[in-house]
Amino acid sequence: MAASRRAFVLRHTRLRSVPGLEEIRLHLADEVLPLWHAVQVETGDADAAMPYWAFAWAGGLAIGRYLREHPEVVAGRRVFDLGAGSGLVAIAGMHAGASVATACDIDPLAAAAIEVNARANGRRVAVVRRDVLDDEPPDVDVILAGDCWYEARLAGRVQPWLRRARARGINGLIGDPGRRYLPAGELAELAAYEVRTTTELEDLEFKQGRVYALRPDRWP
Ligand SMILES: C[S@@+](CC[C@H](N)C(=O)[O-])C[C@H]1O[C@@H](n2cnc3c(N)ncnc32)[C@H](O)[C@@H]1O
Repeated sequence: MAASRRAFVLRHTRLRSVPGLEEIRLHLADEVLPLWHAVQVETGDADAAMPYWAFAWAGGLAIGRYLREHPEVVAGRRVFDLGAGSGLVAIAGMHAGASVATACDIDPLAAAAIEVNARANGRRVAVVRRDVLDDEPPDVDVILAGDCWYEARLAGRVQPWLRRARARGINGLIGDPGRRYLPAGELAELAAYEVRTTTELEDLEFKQGRVYALRPDRWP
């Protein structure tokens, strides 16, 4: 099953450098709708999730840029990439010197994409393919969350989970291009980057991707 999912990812994507993070190569798609349809056919599920894993999202691109500029944030540390999609952020963490990277996504095809993308970059990335947001935070040093604020329900679960993690001494880094459900009042902006995405996903090809930490005065 896992092998056929990896084959599906390879069949529907092309390995290429990530704009603005050329040291990273990912298996990416050009168009979302034909691929989404192929996912529905492959899974037999007319409600299958959009293939987030086939694109590098603005939030993840911003975290990748930030880690390239500030590798000390993750160097020698264990990182956890929540809502990993392609695995871009976990791979960027390993590039920046993380000791261990774990990528978490609920979509089985994302798990397959993370595996093929980690291999394409010669990086080791462990994959967690389940919803951990009702669990205790993982035993890691830094949680990286790229572009997880696009939907109210997910956003409403990620934020308290990150706060719980922070209370246990786990740092959180958030990457986001101004999605509707981002709780900006709880966050401290660390950096902003002009990131290149695609009009397949966004209204504009270039977006402002911002990187945030949880605001210390809002920690529990
Ligand atoms: C917009 S994509 C961002 C992907 C990647 N972080 C990036 O920036 O390129 C959001 C991802 O979150 C995943 N996701 C949604 N709910 C989740 C949950 N409860 N736990 C883990 N991942 C989840 C989706 O499957 C999707 O791959």
